[in-house]
Amino acid sequence: MDREVPLLFQLYSKLRNSVPWIPLLTNIPTPIEKLENLEKKYGMSPSGGVYIKRDDINHGLYGGNKLRKFEFIFGKLLEEKKKGVITFGGIGTNHGLACAIVARQLNLHCDLFLAYQPLTWHVQRSLLLYDYFGAHIHYAKSYTAIALKALFFRLIHPKYYFMLPGGSTLLGRGSPNGTLGFINAAIEIEEQIKQKVFPEPEVIFIPCGSGGSAAGLIAGCKLLNLKTRVYAVEVSNPPFSSEESIIQNSNKALKYLRKRDKTIPQITINKEDFTYVKDYLGSDYGIKTRKGQTAIDLVMQLEGKERGFKLETTYSGKAMAALLDYIGNNENKEKNILFWDTYNSADLDRYLKETHFYYKKLPRQLHQFYEKKHFQCWQYKNCPQKEECSAYLNHDYRCWKVKQCTELERNKCSVYTKLDDAIILEDT
Ligand SMILES: Cc1ncc(COP(=O)(O)O)c(C=O)c1O
Repeated sequence: MDREVPLLFQLYSKLRNSVPWIPLLTNIPTPIEKLENLEKKYGMSPSGGVYIKRDDINHGLYGGNKLRKFEFIFGKLLEEKKKGVITFGGIGTNHGLACAIVARQLNLHCDLFLAYQPLTWHVQRSLLLYDYFGAHIHYAKSYTAIALKALFFRLIHPKYYFMLPGGSTLLGRGSPNGTLGFINAAIEIEEQIKQKVFPEPEVIFIPCGSGGSAAGLIAGCKLLNLKTRVYAVEVSNPPFSSEESIIQNSNKALKYLRKRDKTIPQITINKEDFTYVKDYLGSDYGIKTRKGQTAIDLVMQLEGKERGFKLETTYSGKAMAALLDYIGNNENKEKNILFWDTYNSADLDRYLKETHFYYKKLPRQLHQFYEKKHFQCWQYKNCPQKEECSAYLNHDYRCWKVKQCTELERNKCSVYTKLDDAIILEDT
């Protein structure tokens, strides 16, 4: 496919000169794979199927849903001749990490304004990686405090682009450019349907954090008259994640496009156009749920290990849990279902190793996140041989999973129960 311009501009040519865009993705279109082991396990009918959209490998360094949005957001930022970017998230934000990586690639400054989220191994890793990729970290406990800090920072740094959480609009404010990345992604799957890579799916499952990814797919599917219905799985709290935020995101993006190309059909998105799936979030953003973890472990064992993708507990694990409940229902065995993999699967452990886990390099306020709680066997034991251990700095937080310990070995292990207690899984 022609990556000189995105598919969106090939379909609506007037957008070519009126919508900013830069190429960032290096592996487009992303493959669609059939998850046959999972289908078997769930007794899917031969006319139905479960597929995965491998957005996790859309970029060599950091795949996932972010860079699809960033092609349009950073396009705008460069057009406006900004020198840096300010953005927000929780202390484990993947969005912030992707932003740091892309800013470094484009020689821009990156300042991340981070609020508290439940402490996990993922958070400990991420904070070190933001720093590794050159971002400056600003921390406050609440989103209100962090927003005020960021606004003040922006006031004295007018040459910085202000990107809202997840690169989406928030309460109808902010630019819809990120959402365009997922309208473009809908065109990509339409192409794959035309090329018979897979049948037109009845359903797509995708996590809904700030809603931009789901919103773009919903708008794209309606624009293209696909019969596909998007199931947006709630993984964050309102106002970031909600039915309303999806509707606002989609409609703002569609309006933005139509203003620039009048040949685009005049459609609007409302509640009837998609399904907003609740009950998988847990009590808060970033909480690990039992259902999410079970879904991750099952899919990793059946498919992920062999294919090289991984799911995580904040977003994609919860969306997968919702998908598994859906295909567990006899009414859905004949449907074609697409799981949109929004999480990076490129190896970040090697960069983490280069940090030597030296958290004291980070701003002092963040040291508490390393000193209060341990998630890893080698942290707990202050292990002198850690560098030789396969679990050292591994993305998984359960050394017995990395080392594939038997139940007997686990029960004999002096830290197993202590570590297991540190990882609290919530029943939803
Ligand atoms: C892995 C993953 N999936 C999904 C999302 C949510 O995407 P959106 O903010 O577009 O709803 C995020 C956001 O950070 C993410 O990191």
